[in-house]
Amino acid sequence: MTHTRFSLSALAAATLFSFAVQAAPVEIKFSHVVAENTPKGQMALKFKSLVESTMGDKYEVKVYPNSQLFGDGKELEALILGDVHFIAPSLSKFSKYTKQLQLFDLPFLFKDMEAVDRFQQGPAGQSLLRSMEKKGILGLGYLHNGLKQLSSSDPLRVPADASGKKFRIMSSDVLAAQFEAVDAVPLKKPFSEVFTLLQTRAIDGQENTWSNIYSKKFFEVQPYITESNHGVLDYLVATSAFFWSDLPAEDRQQLQAALAESIAYGNAIAIEKAQADKQAIIDSGRSKVITINESERQQWVDAMKPVWQAFEKEIGAELIQAAIESNQG
Ligand code: SIN
Repeated sequence: MTHTRFSLSALAAATLFSFAVQAAPVEIKFSHVVAENTPKGQMALKFKSLVESTMGDKYEVKVYPNSQLFGDGKELEALILGDVHFIAPSLSKFSKYTKQLQLFDLPFLFKDMEAVDRFQQGPAGQSLLRSMEKKGILGLGYLHNGLKQLSSSDPLRVPADASGKKFRIMSSDVLAAQFEAVDAVPLKKPFSEVFTLLQTRAIDGQENTWSNIYSKKFFEVQPYITESNHGVLDYLVATSAFFWSDLPAEDRQQLQAALAESIAYGNAIAIEKAQADKQAIIDSGRSKVITINESERQQWVDAMKPVWQAFEKEIGAELIQAAIESNQG
């Protein structure tokens, strides 16, 4: 009798425990390096709200912006180790894992963001999503930020103006070659250090999108911004291939749908911010926006374009050709 009573209460406790265990949501950590008021910051928050509102209590998405959890250089490693589940680094930051994504860093490759989008959604772009799967990194989609501009402590109109100047770049050999092509000195540094490097004049300039220049206040310490539109800064939203394959198929489908909607939301914000943040910088009066004419622009193209040839073998001539074709829209 005592034994039966013990068994029943043990069973009740076990049932309660199992309910408690089942009720605890699975935590999804989403880490990124930018501010919340950016296309990526907003996309991550949208993903959190969609997952939590459409998937019941199954998942809790914790978003860590501003390099709070992992900064550049650490987030990819952390993803592979399972310390974070979603990240969205710039496409320039994957070269340790694949040389193919270096494509996006080739200067003056895409004529505008519509061409970038056509390439990413086409067969070549889609095949790149899985290019690092064997290394444990799975791309689930591309997110736009926009075209890059050159900010500097001195006015830059033509390539000769950049000669001898130090520019912070992301961890990309193509970007290093791009600045070397105009006789400048590229320095690979994490995003989290850029403001201080500029403020202390340890470097002369950097390249970035309007939303990053605005949200990280680079314009407050850079008196000139040349509207060069010389390259693209977009993201690969990536998860761990192991984490992903362990999820139930139905959950994967729902998470992928939430992500697609969040990316569309983030892309709309990217378009809006490219305009609004540029205007906010102009209105601030802190930084002069330099518009270059066609012949000045052509000088940048002529100086930087040999970089394509130098990286053609690593990236693949066919991939470059597919990107060129996306310019015919
Ligand atoms: C980002 O937009 O994620 C950061 C870009 C950079 O490192 O410049």
